[in-house]
Amino acid sequence: MKIRTVKPEDLWDVAKIDNLSFKKPWTFPRFIEQYETNKDNFLIAEENGKILGFSISNCEGLLMLIAVDPNARGKGIGSKLLAATIKKLRMMGIKKVFAHVRKSNKKVIDFYVKHGFKIEKELPHYYSDEDGWLLVKELD
Ligand SMILES: CC(C)(COP(=O)(O)OP(=O)(O)OC[C@H]1O[C@@H](n2cnc3c(N)ncnc32)[C@H](O)[C@@H]1OP(=O)(O)O)[C@@H](O)C(=O)NCCC(=O)NCCS
Repeated sequence: MKIRTVKPEDLWDVAKIDNLSFKKPWTFPRFIEQYETNKDNFLIAEENGKILGFSISNCEGLLMLIAVDPNARGKGIGSKLLAATIKKLRMMGIKKVFAHVRKSNKKVIDFYVKHGFKIEKELPHYYSDEDGWLLVKELD
């Protein structure tokens, strides 16, 4: 499995994984926009030519999206993507990484906490149908 930056031909697979992973998936134009404006922070996990996951962060240290194909979860791909994302942000001089999570998403909260994130504060009504948490990881 390798982690690399995104190519235009990855975007349909990325959107497919996004659709399978989130209640409110991104529209396809949002992925094109990220490709055009934020390529360096748009990472792809690929194995034997198959896209298994992706992450998108920004230059302010916000981890906007991280998702792994539901059939490939629980094998460490998300952990590798997160580690590569954090490495990239650290190299950009970022000192704090932020992520938002639905309060009901216990599995993902555990995933972030396992990787050194702490719950910073509650985000009431952050999602149209649910409250969220703001999670933060300090980088040294
Ligand atoms: C969060 C996410 C990216 C993690 O990806 P992943 O490849 O499953 O991550 P890892 O395999 O590195 O770790 C997942 C943990 O769940 C456990 N797990 C076991 N079987 C699993 C399964 N079938 N599905 C998910 N997790 C499983 C793993 O063992 C691991 O815990 P451990 O290391 O303590 O054993 C993935 O669950 C996902 O895409 N979720 C939906 C999208 C989402 O909510 N993203 C976060 C908000 S942007």
